[in-house]
Amino acid sequence: MPDSRSTDPDADFISVRDFSYAYGSTQVLHGINLSIHRRRITALIGPSGCGKSTLLRAINRINDLVEGAAPVSGSIHIDGVNIYDPAVDVIALRRNVGMVFQKYNPFPRSIYENTVYGLRLAGITDRAQLDEAAEQSLRLAALWDEVKDRLDEMATSLSGGQQQRLCIARAVALRPRVLLMDEPCAALDPIATARIEDLIAQLRDRFSFVIVTHNMEQAKRLSDRTAFLYRGKLIEEGDTLDIFGNPAQPLTEQYVTGRLV
Ligand SMILES: Nc1ncnc2c1ncn2[C@@H]1O[C@H](COP(=O)(O)OP(=O)(O)O)[C@@H](O)[C@H]1O
Ligand SMILES: [Mg+2]
Repeated sequence: MPDSRSTDPDADFISVRDFSYAYGSTQVLHGINLSIHRRRITALIGPSGCGKSTLLRAINRINDLVEGAAPVSGSIHIDGVNIYDPAVDVIALRRNVGMVFQKYNPFPRSIYENTVYGLRLAGITDRAQLDEAAEQSLRLAALWDEVKDRLDEMATSLSGGQQQRLCIARAVALRPRVLLMDEPCAALDPIATARIEDLIAQLRDRFSFVIVTHNMEQAKRLSDRTAFLYRGKLIEEGDTLDIFGNPAQPLTEQYVTGRLV
């Protein structure tokens, strides 16, 4: 019987195959194989330094900006296209594969300008179109009601949690196919964290998410699928319930029960 996953394009939306990665002569990812499913939330978990951020940043080639950082072998396909093919337009790739970082990083501009930033870069100048996109994106990011009367204020006048939602609004304004999030709540208090988690859960039908988290409760609450990395290797991936409740690998079990550091 054929493996149903290999015939379901949504189950292999992002396909990481035998992917190895190095900073200079230091190899940090070793032969990673991982399928990221469309319109699902995938959590990347594992101890600090195991390569979660490196793998995440390889998916939109933001690591290209780090000198000496490069894939050693293997491939990452998104919807069938090898993103490391020399013909790939990296700017377009990053438009399709949005990113939100641990430390919220709005630009030193107004709330409005942050939201429409990518659209302006894409050459859109029509004010009505920008206004509409700003409202839609801020609504998607569950921020509209809080900021609709202060769109011209600086982004930095917002609370940390609001700034992170603004960064999410800025990312979703480009209607990316996937959103990469690197510990998006690590700098936030529990209330702001809960709001971001609610927001991600609300958006799960519209986007595909890959979320790095060291918070296993968050991975359990939020994700459909979980991938466990250890020392640059993918130890196990699967449905979140299985990874936490019935892992196949002893290392996974040790990690999710807090016995591995
Ligand atoms: N810019 C860099 N230059 C050199 N080494 C790096 C760089 N970024 C990360 N590393 C190393 O790569 C390994 C994996 O790091 P990282 O992907 O950040 O892990 P994680 O996100 O799981 O904590 C670590 O040993 C780290 O020190
Ligand atoms: Mg990291």
